[in-house]
Amino acid sequence: MKKLLLAIACVATFSASAQKFPGLALTPPMGWNSWNKFAGNINEALIRQTADAMATNGMLAAGYNYIVVDDCWEAMDRDQLGNIVADPKKFPSGMKALGDYLHAKGFKFGLHNCAGTKTCAGFPGGRGHEFQDALTYASWGVDFLKYDWCEHGTANSQETYKTMRDGLATAGRPIVFSLCEWGDTQPWLWARDIGHLWRTTGDIYNCFDCVFDHGTWKSFGVLQILDMQDGLREYAGPGHWNDPDMLEVGNGMPVNEERAHFSMWCLLAAPLITGNDMNHMSAETREILTNPEAIAVDQDALGIQGFKYSTNNNVEIWFKPLAGGSWAMCILNRNQEAKNVSFDWAGEKVTDNFAKRAANFSTTTYTLRDLWIKKETGTTKEVLSAKIPGHDVLLLRLDRK
Ligand code: GLA
Repeated sequence: MKKLLLAIACVATFSASAQKFPGLALTPPMGWNSWNKFAGNINEALIRQTADAMATNGMLAAGYNYIVVDDCWEAMDRDQLGNIVADPKKFPSGMKALGDYLHAKGFKFGLHNCAGTKTCAGFPGGRGHEFQDALTYASWGVDFLKYDWCEHGTANSQETYKTMRDGLATAGRPIVFSLCEWGDTQPWLWARDIGHLWRTTGDIYNCFDCVFDHGTWKSFGVLQILDMQDGLREYAGPGHWNDPDMLEVGNGMPVNEERAHFSMWCLLAAPLITGNDMNHMSAETREILTNPEAIAVDQDALGIQGFKYSTNNNVEIWFKPLAGGSWAMCILNRNQEAKNVSFDWAGEKVTDNFAKRAANFSTTTYTLRDLWIKKETGTTKEVLSAKIPGHDVLLLRLDRK
């Protein structure tokens, strides 16, 4: 009897731990990550200054609460017991102290590591140390783990990420698990029970419409990444998001492109992880990143990713169903030059079979609110006519009248 109870207890403990933490990331995570702007040039002063800036410049108040330290925080070697350690020069106070600092300011603490033997920048990866590292991260107060895919050799992606999921569950601290597998083995098909978000593509590049060839790999502009999201919306939802990579807003694109990039990430219900310098941010960039009405589209409680409704002359019209019967609509002008757009609601019916929602404009009237100028601009009773500048958007919210 005793043995039987013990066996039942073991099975119960194991099955309880072998799942991702539930109830996390019910809306797409928001925050900041060091990689896009700083790459390997990171240290504890930068991370603290970033937190100080975000606590006072409106970013934390707007919802950006995860601060994620990406690659290059580690020492080149594990310690004698195989524990992962932070670079003592870059992070002399240690990661626990950094986590405490962030938590005291109201942030959550994120770290990067890799499922392979080494990170992409050559630091120790997690392979073979998953449970040990999970305990270390939990002891440092980590709340978010971005787990990369460099140097994975012949490892099976699903099994590898499952191992780390189980490590995190066993360590017992609720940690958002962010799979950074670049879409190589279609994580949207298998990661729903493993992580809370998964990258769908290779790395973003800081341009609106380009592909950057690094020789052995490529990174992609905003439009290229957008196009790669095709067909993936049905895999995302509360607690399990498609991740089209971090934002490049504030890293040098002109303001119209920043606005279009941000709007489309909101339409995609993408994680909003900023990647710019929080201590040198223009007023225009700050306005974009902290626009509460655009963020509300991204963070909508339904958690449904938007879809492309039509394409005409390289101008796309996207819709995203929102809670309460509302919709977001984004008209994206992919051309360099401005385009006149006319949309006659009476003849249009927007049907979303996945969300099981339809908007029939001949029977229901919606008010239109322009989310960038933050004004009501009419209703669906009149034909919508707009001139949309090149590489820009018109982002609207439709509420039933
Ligand atoms: C990969 C990831 C990036 C970043 C770098 C760090 O390229 O996709 O987001 O984490 O590694 O080396």
